[in-house]
Amino acid sequence: MNIDLTVTKKQKAFIDSKETEVLFGGAAGGGKSYGQLVDTLIYALRYPGSKQLVLRRSFAELDKSLIRSSMEIFPKDIYTFNSSSHVGRFKNGSIVDFGYCAYESDVYQYQSAEYDQIRFDELTHFTEGQYLYLISRLRGANRFPKQVKSSTNPGGIGHTWVKERFIDPSPPGVAFSGGGGLTRVFIPSLLSDNSFLEKNDPSYRQRLMALPRKERLALLMGDWNIFDGQYFSEFSKDAHVCEPFAIPRHWRRFRTIDYGLDRLACLWIALSPEGKSYVYREFCKSNLPISHAAREILERTPEDEDIYATLAPPDLWFRTQESGKSKNILFSEAGLRLTKTGNDRESGWLAIKEMLITEREEGTRLQIFRNCTEIIKCLPMLKIDKLRPTDCSTEPHIITHAPDALRGYAIYRANPPQEIKTSDRTRWSRDLMEDYLNASETEKKYLIKKYGEPN
Ligand SMILES: Nc1ncnc2c1ncn2[C@@H]1O[C@H](COP(=O)(O)OP(=O)(O)OP(=O)(O)O)[C@@H](O)[C@H]1O
Ligand SMILES: [Mg+2]
Repeated sequence: MNIDLTVTKKQKAFIDSKETEVLFGGAAGGGKSYGQLVDTLIYALRYPGSKQLVLRRSFAELDKSLIRSSMEIFPKDIYTFNSSSHVGRFKNGSIVDFGYCAYESDVYQYQSAEYDQIRFDELTHFTEGQYLYLISRLRGANRFPKQVKSSTNPGGIGHTWVKERFIDPSPPGVAFSGGGGLTRVFIPSLLSDNSFLEKNDPSYRQRLMALPRKERLALLMGDWNIFDGQYFSEFSKDAHVCEPFAIPRHWRRFRTIDYGLDRLACLWIALSPEGKSYVYREFCKSNLPISHAAREILERTPEDEDIYATLAPPDLWFRTQESGKSKNILFSEAGLRLTKTGNDRESGWLAIKEMLITEREEGTRLQIFRNCTEIIKCLPMLKIDKLRPTDCSTEPHIITHAPDALRGYAIYRANPPQEIKTSDRTRWSRDLMEDYLNASETEKKYLIKKYGEPN
């Protein structure tokens, strides 16, 4: 039988690769998916009775791209596809399973499966957990070569782990040891490597050229250094860190805290009349009980600084099992009244991004005094969450507290509550009223003694 297919040089390198784990990656339109399918076909024909798994993250992507193209490329007289089970069968007994893993736990559907070749298309759409679990399905009591062959563009949610696994350890095309006698290699593919697309759709390159800079470098040049998974990539010391100065008395001042027993983070922020926020002091310390935390914060606030509000996340209003009191009440008993902020993580992070923007006429809306070292260190260290790319990762946990405190302030700024009158604030705010209604008789007495009868 004659199958008439031509491949590009890079596709041939991918097909010929013998390493245990292979990544075919880079620019969009480099012929990666097509290369995967031709390789799938060749393997199925070369090893009769072999089993392959071809994966995309979502069913829609799988169906639109790989399944559709495979129907065009695989010769009909030797191949049939069952569209309800997504299993393709060759006449020689070889099988190709087309699968997807929309959710993290979807990998368990392959718990008892065995494959000779596992192929991930758009690997950076998968999480590292999914990849590691699925490659454990690579086994079988036969002598067919076992490989995991992936293809991808840079920039998906899995960008960081894929880069660390394949790109960083060795130059392109040079195989390296992945430990345990296993080998890996990265084969780059650029749009210019795919003469088929360049010839058939010359305007494709121009469409890529029109993308924003980051996406253009990633998709046109296959540049892996663009997205390193940093969440606040707009943060820069030049633009956002400033020398301390004496803050005018009439600027409104806030404190914003994140509190857990593992770490307290408190930021002092002053708001200029033009709407620029200056983080001018910070205090971060681990293992402080609430009474100590409150005392430390109050001690660090000079008498003549009038703090408009001390912002804290809503979870401090939940009552704990042991004492039946909320942390908010405990802070309040220790002399620190808190004001509840929002806790929607994604809108909070976006509000910080909004403040960091430098490309507007009046410049950035956030400046941090050089002495606030923890927030300066932690903000740029936050990583994009692998499962929810619009959120920050909560690991390593220790670096999240100062940014969480800043987030509380940013969300408060973005959705300012109705102006709080000073008289209400020091007496019965809505939050205080809520605490009162939920309080025990003793706590109620305490609150009345401290703030007077509810109004
Ligand atoms: N060897 C080939 N012979 C004929 N056409 C090819 C070949 N390789 C790629 N093409 C065509 O070039 C186009 C792009 O290829 P493909 O979809 O494989 O690229 P890709 O790198 O997977 O792109 P993306 O980044 O968009 O997923 C497709 O239309 C495909 O059919
Ligand atoms: Mg593709």
